Amino acid sequence: MSAPKFAIGNWKMNGLRADQSEIDALIAAHPDPRCGVVICPPATLIADLARKSGDSNLSIGGQDCHAGASGAHTGDISAEMLADAGAEYVILGHSERRTDHGETDDEIATKVAAAWRAGLVAVLCVGESEAERDAGATLSVLSRQIAGSLPDGADPTRTIIAYEPVWAIGTGRVAETAQIAEAHRALREDLSKRLGAAAASAIPILYGGSVKPANAAEIFSVPNVDGALVGGASLKAADFGAIIAALDSA
Ligand code: PGA
Repeated sequence: MSAPKFAIGNWKMNGLRADQSEIDALIAAHPDPRCGVVICPPATLIADLARKSGDSNLSIGGQDCHAGASGAHTGDISAEMLADAGAEYVILGHSERRTDHGETDDEIATKVAAAWRAGLVAVLCVGESEAERDAGATLSVLSRQIAGSLPDGADPTRTIIAYEPVWAIGTGRVAETAQIAEAHRALREDLSKRLGAAAASAIPILYGGSVKPANAAEIFSVPNVDGALVGGASLKAADFGAIIAALDSA
């Protein structure tokens, strides 16, 4: 069984209520995509966008969650709260959280478990820094991150992996297709050793890092690439729509 395909937009800390017209345009232009389409807006917009996406094929996700369900954690949001607001997905372990907030693999694993507990699909991000790639450590970094941040018992229907080389995020630099192919093959093998071949082949492995309409088709032609996690280009309906169309025709 091959993995379902996904185009996931990560709006990061962008988006005011006035920007919702981009979602209207996206739904109008792509009423029936074959791939899964998910937008992860800032938490302030989740409920509004979940309402707006209604019966469309667009789903909504969060960008982080706390490991606990509730409690004295000022400023944090639980997976249960994301689900309550209408989210079905949550991005976890993004390199900006690993860097800006010092998130460790152990901590990320507890968040992935929290996402599953709340019935969300966890979109777990892994990826090497430029220094790690230059040191020839890319595949060992990916193995370590998967071993440390993916808890046991992953259900393929609730798990998506995003390979995002840190040096390609927001930089306009895209990994070469051979680099993407090597990383995705290694990730599939790690998942297979951990979960068995059938479960591993059912887990989508997305590429992320400066995916744009102009490079999407080439990236989607790489073996073991099941879609994209898109930052900057997901903010404009026309650009994200072109990436969705490229994935649908891959
Ligand atoms: P980018 O971001 O597409 O703007 O490079 C990707 C991401 O951080 O998920």
